[in-house]
Amino acid sequence: MDGNATVAVLGGTGAEGGGIALRLAAAGRKVVIGSRDGAKAETRAAEINARVTGSPVSGRDLKGAAAAAEIVILTVPFAAQAGTLEQVKAELEGKILVDATVPLVPPKVSRVQLPAGGSAVAAMQEKLGAGVKVVAAFQNVSAHNLDDLDHEVDCDVLIFGDDVAACDVVAALVDSMGLRGIYGGAVCNAAAAEALTSVLIAINRKYKLAGSGIRITGMDKPAKMHG
Ligand SMILES: NC(=O)c1ccc[n+]([C@@H]2O[C@H](COP(=O)([O-])OP(=O)(O)OC[C@H]3O[C@@H](n4cnc5c(N)ncnc54)[C@H](OP(=O)(O)O)[C@@H]3O)[C@@H](O)[C@H]2O)c1
Repeated sequence: MDGNATVAVLGGTGAEGGGIALRLAAAGRKVVIGSRDGAKAETRAAEINARVTGSPVSGRDLKGAAAAAEIVILTVPFAAQAGTLEQVKAELEGKILVDATVPLVPPKVSRVQLPAGGSAVAAMQEKLGAGVKVVAAFQNVSAHNLDDLDHEVDCDVLIFGDDVAACDVVAALVDSMGLRGIYGGAVCNAAAAEALTSVLIAINRKYKLAGSGIRITGMDKPAKMHG
């Protein structure tokens, strides 16, 4: 998949998806924001277009955004994950779905509370079937840091999926945003990143940080180790 692939961000009206859309747009990627309300998506797209001079961002309803893209990123709360994917299941067929969902259970979001079966993202791969290449990413990247264009995002992005080629595509996408995407194994391993988010929230609270993150040491990975 080339660098011209259109990327949809379902839930891009929110904090995490909005930050991802902003960074993608700044990198010159073609981005469509998806929302339950197409007008809300258009408003968020206009806000991003006012901040960056890269590729213009557009806004659509969920189905329209998913249909328009080759890569679809999901950034909605855990409680809305399955319902949102159910609505766009047909549009996802044959595509890469990048799922950023963390199964936080308010109010105790600084405690690890993974769902039965382990990973929320792995459960979606099971539900959607092999026709959709589900890749977990961005679980440990704070929305605050993504939104702050004056600073580079100082962390790595762990990437998990059963289709390694799809993970390589997502890693290249992540690299284009100025982060470092690192493959961490099969989609079941996404449980580790989902759990780690609660650890990072606990660190943020204890040390009064806006957005801690993780770095993998022991590798001098130049950004382009994938296809
Ligand atoms: N915030 C972070 O720093 C962060 C970091 C890493 C991972 N994440 C993960 O990324 C996901 C999104 O987090 P967020 O902080 O961006 O969430 P958010 O701002 O609360 O919500 C994102 C979007 O999801 C849609 N949404 C909200 N409630 C919904 C519902 N009940 N049913 C259907 N859609 C709903 C809304 O879009 P529309 O109203 O436009 O449809 C909303 O703008 C979560 O799974 C979170 O754990 C977040």
